[in-house]
Amino acid sequence: MAARTLADQVVTWQRVYGRHDLPWQGVRDPYRVWLSEIMLQQTQVVTVRDYFARFLERFPDLATLAAASLDDVLGLWSGLGYYSRARNLHRCAVQVCRDHGGEFPRSAEVLQTLPGIGPSTAAAIASLCFGERVAILDGNVKRVLCRFLGFDADLAVRANEQALWAHATTLLPTRQLGHSMPRYTQGLMDLGATVCTLRQPDCAACPLAATCVAKREGAPERFPVKTRKLKRGAQTIWLLYLSTAGRDVWLSQRPTPGVWAGLYCVPLFEDRASLQATLPEPWHHALVDGPVVRHVLTHKDLHLHPVALSVPDSGLQPTADGHWFTAQRWPSLGLPAPIRKLLQGG
Ligand code: ADE
Repeated sequence: MAARTLADQVVTWQRVYGRHDLPWQGVRDPYRVWLSEIMLQQTQVVTVRDYFARFLERFPDLATLAAASLDDVLGLWSGLGYYSRARNLHRCAVQVCRDHGGEFPRSAEVLQTLPGIGPSTAAAIASLCFGERVAILDGNVKRVLCRFLGFDADLAVRANEQALWAHATTLLPTRQLGHSMPRYTQGLMDLGATVCTLRQPDCAACPLAATCVAKREGAPERFPVKTRKLKRGAQTIWLLYLSTAGRDVWLSQRPTPGVWAGLYCVPLFEDRASLQATLPEPWHHALVDGPVVRHVLTHKDLHLHPVALSVPDSGLQPTADGHWFTAQRWPSLGLPAPIRKLLQGG
């Protein structure tokens, strides 16, 4: 009985109070929904909006994206971070064109066999576009459901997450799925993003307040429970920012796997001595150390030490794999955000 109530309330609430103006809404186009879901996996809606628009303009459909080069895709992704998303996006487009006749599969089960599409993203696409009765479970939705159910088992334990997923499935709408599933999925996301927030949830505005266990217990922020913290590491990297009087900069493509795989970057070194060792002796005294930049990745902090060297012309070739790139070429290259900043500031 409570299950029906939750779904009905979320659906009704979404119709009135949910978000309806997001650029990937309104049409049940799996290409747009897929693209937005991948972008939204680790990035806020405000940032995704602009990237999404630029991406669609350049790659209006799946076939165009599949036919593009990975370099072009990484170029447009530049600044969004988590570049494995862009590499998987491209692989996924190629695979859907090759193996599925250019049409996205319509079930979450098959969708999650594709690169970059995990169970929750598959469920988002299948429910939003095709009305399939499948549960999403991203960070926002876990929070809403844990609070509603009073589910306080540790989500760092896989079996507990699976148990929550099973609960999520029993709570799904059971009627008129073609209409209710897209609205329910979007409604849960919207509730998590706008009402049932991590800190200071707005319980007064919540359609589930009357039956929410966490609200009744008076401490919604106690949920969800997740103990294991990601162990963060740190890495120091030395950057050789080598430029000519004509503002050409030496860049090469980063190897896969590794930090910034596939992106264009200035030469990187473990220490200053090895940076210096790649340059002929007469240039050593001309190196200029810049301020250290801290750059945060998911699993580690990078401490970037830029060292600049201006040479008169492009005669010097410091690394085997690389080229001189004119400033006009930088905007279209896939560059890691801190490298783009370094070039723009230099
Ligand atoms: N986050 C993930 N998917 C989303 C969507 N469809 N709308 C808003 N935020 C989201």
